[in-house]
Amino acid sequence: MEEQQAGEHTVYLGECALSRLETLLTDQQRPARAFILGDERTLELCLDELLAHVPVLGNALTIEVRSGEKSKDITVCRALWTHLAEHAADRDTWLICLGGGVVTDLGGFVAATYMRGIRCVHVPTTLMGMVDAAIGGKTAIDMAGVKNLVGLFAPPVGTFVHTGFLRTLGKRELLNGVAEMIKHGLVRDAAHWHAVRRAPLHDLRALPALIARSAAIKAAVVTEDPRESGPRKLLNFGHTIGHALEAFALEGAQRPLLHGEAVAIGMICESWLSWRLGHLDREKMDAIQEHLLGLYPPFLLTPTDHHRVIELMRNDKKNREGGFRFTLLSDIGQALIDIPVTAAQAADALDHYRLLAIDVPPRHHQEA
Ligand SMILES: NC(=O)c1ccc[n+]([C@@H]2O[C@H](COP(=O)([O-])OP(=O)(O)OC[C@H]3O[C@@H](n4cnc5c(N)ncnc54)[C@H](O)[C@@H]3O)[C@@H](O)[C@H]2O)c1
Repeated sequence: MEEQQAGEHTVYLGECALSRLETLLTDQQRPARAFILGDERTLELCLDELLAHVPVLGNALTIEVRSGEKSKDITVCRALWTHLAEHAADRDTWLICLGGGVVTDLGGFVAATYMRGIRCVHVPTTLMGMVDAAIGGKTAIDMAGVKNLVGLFAPPVGTFVHTGFLRTLGKRELLNGVAEMIKHGLVRDAAHWHAVRRAPLHDLRALPALIARSAAIKAAVVTEDPRESGPRKLLNFGHTIGHALEAFALEGAQRPLLHGEAVAIGMICESWLSWRLGHLDREKMDAIQEHLLGLYPPFLLTPTDHHRVIELMRNDKKNREGGFRFTLLSDIGQALIDIPVTAAQAADALDHYRLLAIDVPPRHHQEA
């Protein structure tokens, strides 16, 4: 088993990660009373496997929320706080979050606020959760149409990564997490970028080593800067434009974009900006762009869509202090934070992507 320190919490990876959770729960002075929070899919597909590895949770009560981003909502929190209270959950109660980023963001927030904080454990079941969302202690719900508007830094007791859960995850969801793995390589580790680029992603046996490396990169960055005052901004590469595109897609122009799909487009735009502003060599920008265009379906933009996307970038809570500050690449494996970018330059980057997307062969639509 591998262990990585991510700021205040530990990430356990490998064959024995769930046995480690069993030991943690059974080692408590008093038997731990636990609730397992999952969504419709994770309780159906992952709960039996969790209980097989962590039998001490056999008596835990399960709480189900609906699958999807809509569950990161204050009405769901209210229902969960009420449910915990009605079932006499107290400061000694544990909340086990079994699911993707929605369940760990929501469960982390509810656990951190119920009775001023009860113990919380993350058992991620999506690739996005294993390499990103369940690591680093950020919790949040969405409000007023803004993603992750309300939340707090509240590290779990531990994150237990069991890659066996990925067997039931669809290809689109898998690629969703791959985008964050690519980002980890691009901002921190060129060897990881090359390894993810060459990996046979359809072969689940190839994934555990790559997941472990990505989780280690995220954990190391979080440890350097748990509250995102500096180095953690490295992880925002692809996200300034990516978040705005994700919100734009939700407004219904065409199909909704998953977070990782939006970040992949954001990385194409922001690699282009890195080159345009003189930080990144052209052939490296071309290699990044070619790989991402080959992996993710094109998102078609009209020549005027950038007006709305830039507006959404201004609404993003991270861009509220004035001009845009981007994380850009200076090389593959190296990033620069807080680079000023004008709205006109961001619009040019979006236009660059718009023209590229027109030329992508349509086969990708079927694969998604
Ligand atoms: N806190 C952070 O640092 C952080 C980082 C990245 C993303 N996030 C958040 O994470 C969320 C996205 O996470 P996600 O991509 O995991 O989405 P998700 O939690 O919605 O899961 C995606 C879908 O996969 C299903 N699913 C989960 N595990 C499965 C499995 N093993 N087999 C089959 N289906 C399964 C879910 O039911 C859901 O329908 C967003 O809300 C985002 O804001 C948070």
